[in-house]
Amino acid sequence: MNNAIINNMEITTVNESKINSVDFESIAFGREFTDHMFSCDFKDGKWQTPKITPYQPLTLDPSARVFHYGQAVFEGMKAFKDDMDDVWLFRPEDNFNRINISAKRLAIPEFPKEYFLNGLSALIDLERDWIKKGEGNALYIRPFVIATEPAISASPANEFKFMIICSPVKSYYKGKVSVVFAQDYSRSANGGVGFAKAAGNYAAQFYPTSLVQKEGYQQIIWTDANTHEYLEEAGTMNIFFRVNDTLLTAPTSDRILDGITRKSIIQLAKDNNVAVEVRPVSVKEIKEAAKNGSLKEIFGSGTAAAVSPISDFKHGEETFKLEEQEDSYATFFKKKLTDIQYNRTEDKHAWRV
Ligand code: COI
Repeated sequence: MNNAIINNMEITTVNESKINSVDFESIAFGREFTDHMFSCDFKDGKWQTPKITPYQPLTLDPSARVFHYGQAVFEGMKAFKDDMDDVWLFRPEDNFNRINISAKRLAIPEFPKEYFLNGLSALIDLERDWIKKGEGNALYIRPFVIATEPAISASPANEFKFMIICSPVKSYYKGKVSVVFAQDYSRSANGGVGFAKAAGNYAAQFYPTSLVQKEGYQQIIWTDANTHEYLEEAGTMNIFFRVNDTLLTAPTSDRILDGITRKSIIQLAKDNNVAVEVRPVSVKEIKEAAKNGSLKEIFGSGTAAAVSPISDFKHGEETFKLEEQEDSYATFFKKKLTDIQYNRTEDKHAWRV
């Protein structure tokens, strides 16, 4: 192992990379991890010296609060490699801001921007070879914070660990996604944590999602918890509806994640003169549009999911199939987005870093 101190960060690198043992062609999402990880502990009221070390298991006390109360938040980001072997992040400061917004709601101390950006760039620099060129290939980056303090009284921890791990990935969904509009379970409520990337938001979806998976569907599009009449977001992505030529998506709120891909698509729609309405979208109007033929597409957006078209949906006993569109908006926005991410086009909003 080699040790160095760079930018006040302790860096220990592996002697030999495990990259040759990875089959990049048949990689499953989030199963393989790169050689190194970033970590920084919070104790005695402050974030300590950040470290990059070989990727390895953690040792935590069984009473660490994260195990009991789920005091944990995370982010999802991707790094892309262009044809000249340059590596690009997409709107990384937005992920930084959002992890601190999530952290605040979960009573986790704010992480310093300099630590985040320096740590991220040093880690990605070490893992460059793990980022493969070509459409769909990316390095998925998972920053997260967990409450590590060994204490099981139900109160916020005083000790945390901030980490960044990286995983080479291809697409999250193979092909189109089939969904059920939620009627029984709910993902989030007013005043709750739906807007945050809180670990528990995802765990709470696993059981209802497993029920629809038994019926052959992959995801749930969550509806508002009060009436189940308005469509909010899917478990792993925000959601867009194309009615005739207009794109509809729900406004962000304390129930809906402020997706970075979502807001990029809204901006790209404006840039390309595609009508976009950010407003509550009702189950009723979408079912009516499906019946009268004006519902052309539904697609999800997210870092992991990128732009994922929906093939069909179910509400109660009714099922609806979406026809293939020659001028698909999902395809159009995916191309616009990936052209920016892979440095194939001008980036007028300076999203590429
Ligand atoms: C992401 O899109 O990065 C997410 O965090 C969603 C996750 C469920 C894979």
